[in-house]
Amino acid sequence: MPSPNARVLVWDWTVRLFHWLLVLGVAAMWWTAEQGMMDWHRRIGLTLLGLIVYRLVWGVIGPGTARFARMVAGPGAIMAYVRDLAARRHRPHFGHNPLGSLSVFAMLLALVTQVSTGLFAVDVDGLESGPLASKVSFETGRLVAEIHETSFKVLLALIALHVIAIAAYLVLFKDNLVRPMVTGRRPQTDFDTPQPPLRTPLPRILAAAATAAATVYANLAIGG
Ligand code: HEM
Repeated sequence: MPSPNARVLVWDWTVRLFHWLLVLGVAAMWWTAEQGMMDWHRRIGLTLLGLIVYRLVWGVIGPGTARFARMVAGPGAIMAYVRDLAARRHRPHFGHNPLGSLSVFAMLLALVTQVSTGLFAVDVDGLESGPLASKVSFETGRLVAEIHETSFKVLLALIALHVIAIAAYLVLFKDNLVRPMVTGRRPQTDFDTPQPPLRTPLPRILAAAATAAATVYANLAIGG
């Protein structure tokens, strides 16, 4: 019988670091674009590229709650979860719930679109451009820049939904999801059955970080 004060690790430290650096990075990307600080916009953009590559690799080799395969839920599971929510039945999930997973996938897709279009984008007068813009025609660079602007609006809408959903869990279900994203832990009593410990072996962290660093380096090297 676990002690009533026992807490279990739900989010490993690299997912938490990824998340809060992502929040800072997205805010900084918006600010630097608004202020026309394009050198910083490019530098922070490449850092975000590295962060996202890390998370994509971690979604394959990381521990349980970080794994994409575990986050995929079928329509049946999603509908059952929505019905539970509508009936005000809520049990904390060990990791993302089926609806949360959907929003995470949508945000990751929007982020991948955002950083990858930024690499090739060029502005109207051709003065500012992403590191790989010289590899495509001006017309393609402009088209990609339009997608870059639109996908930022989509990303903002998804972030707004994300923050509203987290506030709703707090208000409607008194479930504070932010604390575990900071401390990593939840009370063991939140779960019906004991959960397996999350392991974050250093070689796997290094493999994901090396892939991220290599991707950023390749972009710098190809861009010249
Ligand atoms: C730029 C803004 C934001 C972006 C792009 C973003 C993105 C994400 C992503 C991708 C995840 C999934 C984490 C993973 O599995 O790797 C996530 C989870 C989470 N985020 Fe954010 N986030 C943002 C802002 C915020 C803010 C402001 C808060 C706090 C109010 C927050 C609280 C959380 C929490 C609590 C989770 C875990 C949700 C759960 O329990 O399933 N996020 N976020």
